[in-house]
Amino acid sequence: MKATAKAHTNIALIKYWGKRDETLILPTNNSLSVTLDGFYTTTSVEFNEQFTKDTFVLDDVSIAGEQYQRVANFLNLVRQLAGKEIYAEVKSTNAVPTAAGFASSASGFAALAAASTKAIGLKLDNTELSRLTRQGSGSACRSIFGGFAEWKKGEKDDGTDSFAVPITPKEHWDIRVAAVVLSSKMKKVSSREGMKRTVDTSPFFQGWVDSIPTDLAEIKEGIFAKDFEKVGQIAEANCLKMHATTLGAQPPFTYWLDTTVTVMQTVRALREQGIPAYFTIDAGPNVKVLYLPENEEEVQSTLRNIPGVTDVKLSRVGQGITYLEDE
Ligand code: DP6
Repeated sequence: MKATAKAHTNIALIKYWGKRDETLILPTNNSLSVTLDGFYTTTSVEFNEQFTKDTFVLDDVSIAGEQYQRVANFLNLVRQLAGKEIYAEVKSTNAVPTAAGFASSASGFAALAAASTKAIGLKLDNTELSRLTRQGSGSACRSIFGGFAEWKKGEKDDGTDSFAVPITPKEHWDIRVAAVVLSSKMKKVSSREGMKRTVDTSPFFQGWVDSIPTDLAEIKEGIFAKDFEKVGQIAEANCLKMHATTLGAQPPFTYWLDTTVTVMQTVRALREQGIPAYFTIDAGPNVKVLYLPENEEEVQSTLRNIPGVTDVKLSRVGQGITYLEDE
């Protein structure tokens, strides 16, 4: 009862920010992302009658505490679904540089969901898998699919209609994403905590939610038409709106550093020079820059020259989950 799966992380162009149910992980808005090929997690899960508890090893380090608990809670859901009382050994490797600020929870939970359901003998289609993955970490449900994917928030209280759907496959459009890594010792507000505080206290939150349907409809038009400027403009504006909600929270907070703003300004300066490039930022200080293949050299060297930038990692559009042969 063993299986191995690989899942890539994704970057949201229309952000998921706010939950309507924290236990089932149901969002207040639809979100849309692109799966990235450079950053992934490979996870092996073995269920065995001999095991007396779940274990979780990440990059050769045995994990305890909250991170372990989130994995064990997810395995409980898998056991419940399969109707089996059996513990698992989970081994993961991240090819997601943690420092690149890519939420490794997205590739992590997508790989865990795929490997654990296969290992326990469940036969789920990608919709069922996405719905289950969502309960590990919301953004992870989009990583089941490659290319562009949309997470439908759903209307039902039980979450059965809340899962991701593919928008266009990986082959549809070759856009690129540069992850700009900044040095930071700032205390992190997790996305989970940050979005809760925003929902509970920010007067700007409702405005954020109200603005989503238009952003989504327009960005999908842009993706289908491969209109890079349209997609970039909407993604950048959507990111700024999400971050604006945090400034209205109580106590207020921001994920930005001074260097975050410098990168944002540099991206705008690239546009003034006629190079189409747009930024987006998740719940952290690092910036992801969207650009087209023909501008890779110029974008990359400009970003690397910004003081305070420690690394720039380039990525293409990636594929959905894959299963690896077990040794
Ligand atoms: C800012 O998926 O990490 O990256 O569902 O609580 O695990 P939980 O949160 P998570 O939140 C991601 C928030 C974001 C935007 C996005 O990816 O859509």
